[in-house]
Amino acid sequence: MERDLKAKRNNWGEKMVKLAQTEEVLRRRIKEIFSRTVPRYYEHTLKVVTNMKKVDDSEDRTVLLLAAYLHDIGYSVAYRGDYVGNIDSQSLKTRLHSDVGAKFAEEILSTIGIEPETIKKVSYLVSVHHREDIEDRYLKVLLRADKV
Ligand SMILES: [Fe+2]
Ligand SMILES: [Fe+2]
Repeated sequence: MERDLKAKRNNWGEKMVKLAQTEEVLRRRIKEIFSRTVPRYYEHTLKVVTNMKKVDDSEDRTVLLLAAYLHDIGYSVAYRGDYVGNIDSQSLKTRLHSDVGAKFAEEILSTIGIEPETIKKVSYLVSVHHREDIEDRYLKVLLRADKV
């Protein structure tokens, strides 16, 4: 019994260490991407991540944390000679950065060794992260954290 508890705690500890390492790699990658494309979105992303850490007490912390880091990554994608983040039309910008961001998020996550099931969930959240009409517990948490 005692040993079971200890093993459980060690397992949890290992998971947290792994998440912290993943987070560090992802943060550096996103900083690098935004700083050569649309730098203002890096600061915004960090604020959303901070908010997420305050509101998220769920079991599936990994998915929400990764989604917070990647939700606006689509702004950094090149579009007609500029970046999506610099498009004037708000509605086009919103739609485009969600769509291309979901694909870009998948690409980034697969290069840092995230398992396919998690990638799928994060990519979905990125693709719908401006949709207030969808009932999804994770999406609601992300929407709340994104209000900065
Ligand atoms: Fe967004
Ligand atoms: Fe955002």
